Amino acid sequence: MEKIRLQKVLAEAGIASRRKAEELILSGKIKVNDKVAVLGQKVDTEFDKIEYNGMPVKAENKKYYIMLYKPEGCVCTLKDELDRPTVMEYVSDIHARIFPIGRLDFDTEGLLLLTNDGDFANGITHPSKNIEKTYIAHIKGGHVSQEKLSRLRKGIKLDDGMTKPAKVRLDTIYNNGTSLVEITITEGRNRQVRRMFEAIGHPVIALKRTKIGSLELGKLPYGKWRHLNPAEIKSLS
Ligand code: URA
Repeated sequence: MEKIRLQKVLAEAGIASRRKAEELILSGKIKVNDKVAVLGQKVDTEFDKIEYNGMPVKAENKKYYIMLYKPEGCVCTLKDELDRPTVMEYVSDIHARIFPIGRLDFDTEGLLLLTNDGDFANGITHPSKNIEKTYIAHIKGGHVSQEKLSRLRKGIKLDDGMTKPAKVRLDTIYNNGTSLVEITITEGRNRQVRRMFEAIGHPVIALKRTKIGSLELGKLPYGKWRHLNPAEIKSLS
């Protein structure tokens, strides 16, 4: 997590206003990891021990629930071993240990949730919950047969087993020999949608997630994030 200025932590913990917190730091009454704190010091509220007059200061334990319009060209991890851009760069102004819920591929865009609430995240990703995820796939092929679409609907054999039933709707056929198909699945296997279309001979050109459960990406701009409202959090809990 990004380190935060000590006076901000003290203020958020209700010890004093930020200005008064600065005075407290200067007066030597604040310690960080058993050492007298200095003005301008930054702390990691998860790991640093903060004390005021010898009493522990409890950092605010606020929970965050965020949706991001993930752009293409970034990975859904906190830090990438290949040093590629991560989704965390798009939500850098949140001072909490948030993490992405599940994954979208490097080259997939669309709705991604992030939180610092582990239970909420588990509830969404746990296979037993069968939460629907909806994607718009731009695929090769100007005419996808009903037979192939129905194979996707019923379940198709991939190298890691049969897929569960899916909802599939042919949205648009372009005259350049490509199509748009909306697909809703309840599983979250690696590159599942791409592999499903590959299996019927219509490889994916571009993929966008538009919905998780009843939560829609809506008009959120590309690369931007917003907090979920209480009704949206409840609908996914
Ligand atoms: N299925 C895929 O193939 N890729 C994603 O990013 C998500 C679902």
